[in-house]
Amino acid sequence: MKEKMQALRESSLKAIVDCSSAELLEDLRVKYLGKKGELTAILRQMGALSAEERPVMGQLANQLRADIEQAVAARRAELAAGALEAKLEKETLDVTMPGVKKRLGHKHPMYNVLDQIKDIFIGMGFEIEDGPEVELADYNFTKLNIDESHPSRDWTDTFYFTPDSRILLRTQTSPMQIHAMERRKPPIRILAPGRVYRKDEVDATHSPMFHQIEGLVVDKGVTMSDLKATLNLVVEKIYGKGTVTRFRPHHFPFTEPSCELDIQCHKCGGKGCPTCKGEGWIEVLGAGMVHPKVLSGCGIDPDVYSGWAFGMGLERLALGEYKITDMRLIFENDVRFLEQF
Ligand code: PHE
Repeated sequence: MKEKMQALRESSLKAIVDCSSAELLEDLRVKYLGKKGELTAILRQMGALSAEERPVMGQLANQLRADIEQAVAARRAELAAGALEAKLEKETLDVTMPGVKKRLGHKHPMYNVLDQIKDIFIGMGFEIEDGPEVELADYNFTKLNIDESHPSRDWTDTFYFTPDSRILLRTQTSPMQIHAMERRKPPIRILAPGRVYRKDEVDATHSPMFHQIEGLVVDKGVTMSDLKATLNLVVEKIYGKGTVTRFRPHHFPFTEPSCELDIQCHKCGGKGCPTCKGEGWIEVLGAGMVHPKVLSGCGIDPDVYSGWAFGMGLERLALGEYKITDMRLIFENDVRFLEQF
């Protein structure tokens, strides 16, 4: 019996130490110490021992039970520690590593300027009107009183889609005047920003695609002084109070009378500098009273209604506001440039 217990001691302790998982370890514990286990089987034979031998064997058996229990507990702790270590190893998080930077975009500087202008006009009761960039020559030219021989209709100036010069990329936002007057009934107050296209070579001040903002007011009793007062107010809001303006006579086929609005150079105060190209003045927009022919062409009676309109370039405004010297920067979309705004 002593030999059997010794054999069990050796085999069980070795199996426990070699055991590789908590489940197998539990199986081993039952195998050795359970009710039907190997130690119990040995103890059953105690009855055959003599009275002197019995307590000695009993003590040996108790010692063996305690040792196996202790070995199981020790191995269990080892396995648990190993599992934790493996988990830690697998889920390593190095908090000193640099994070993955998510680059968030933000609004293009030119659209900041556009939003500012929209706000000013919305505050005065204007509505934003949207329309097509692919336009009929009828809307881009004819209905705007621009006759067939006008140089802006030339194929060297305008992008046409069809050989009959019927469909084109709009060269100005002024066709939005026509759309607005056809869609709406007076009183009309709209602002129509958008892209326009002209066959220009790219340089510091030109691009074949650029943005304009068209404004149109049609109502009873609208006069040139409304035009001047409104645009002066807008200029003050954009360029600051006290900005000096000048309305200079001009010609547009769809307005009569027509003018261009200049502001006195805010850099040099009118003396002449690189910003105003030595002129002392910076041209801001074209404007005028809507031509009676244009009104009646849209079904609005020029004897009852009158209106004024303006068109201004957005890029130039943004360049001025952000002191950007080259228009190409606006379109190149280099994040190193755009991130500065
Ligand atoms: N469409 C004109 C241009 O592109 C500007 C303009 C708009 C002039 C409205 C008068 C009225 O130059």
